[in-house]
Amino acid sequence: MNSAAESDRQGEAVTLFEAVGGEPTFRKLVDEFYVGVAADPLLRPMYPEEDLGPAADRLTLFLIQYWGGPNTYSAQRGHPRLRMRHAPFRIGAAERDAWLRHMRHAVDRLDLPPALATALWDYLERAAYFMVNVMEDPS
Ligand code: HEM
Repeated sequence: MNSAAESDRQGEAVTLFEAVGGEPTFRKLVDEFYVGVAADPLLRPMYPEEDLGPAADRLTLFLIQYWGGPNTYSAQRGHPRLRMRHAPFRIGAAERDAWLRHMRHAVDRLDLPPALATALWDYLERAAYFMVNVMEDPS
């Protein structure tokens, strides 16, 4: 359960997964995000597969699971270990910021109530900073 959980049934907590509209909302978010990735000169070459569909599916299932929906991601992929899974890719500030730019646009397109949009965004931003795996000289 996360801090964005709301209650609309009698005293029963509702997950963010449910509150935002379930799987179709996460599919829409990730599909929109990947439209941006597909056209991004920095990010597109990082994706090993020609078809971005399977990568979109993995991210969708992960986010659904994280926000309290079905655990299909782990049933198919095992423990997320996201930092480890990103180790093969060089993720510096530029890659992180490009990822976040497409994700920001995708979150905005959902037109969620502000509290839900903020909860979702805060997590995505934190997670993206956490995925950075190269040290860069700040000078
Ligand atoms: C910071 C910039 C990021 C970059 C450049 C990046 C890039 C990538 C790349 C190239 C892949 C491989 C594509 C695939 O085969 O699935 C991948 C996979 C994945 N990424 Fe990211 N990513 C970033 C941040 C994030 C964040 C913040 C999350 C979660 C909130 C995330 C979740 C995932 C997931 C779930 C997978 C699939 C893992 C698997 O099951 O193999 N990524 N990412």
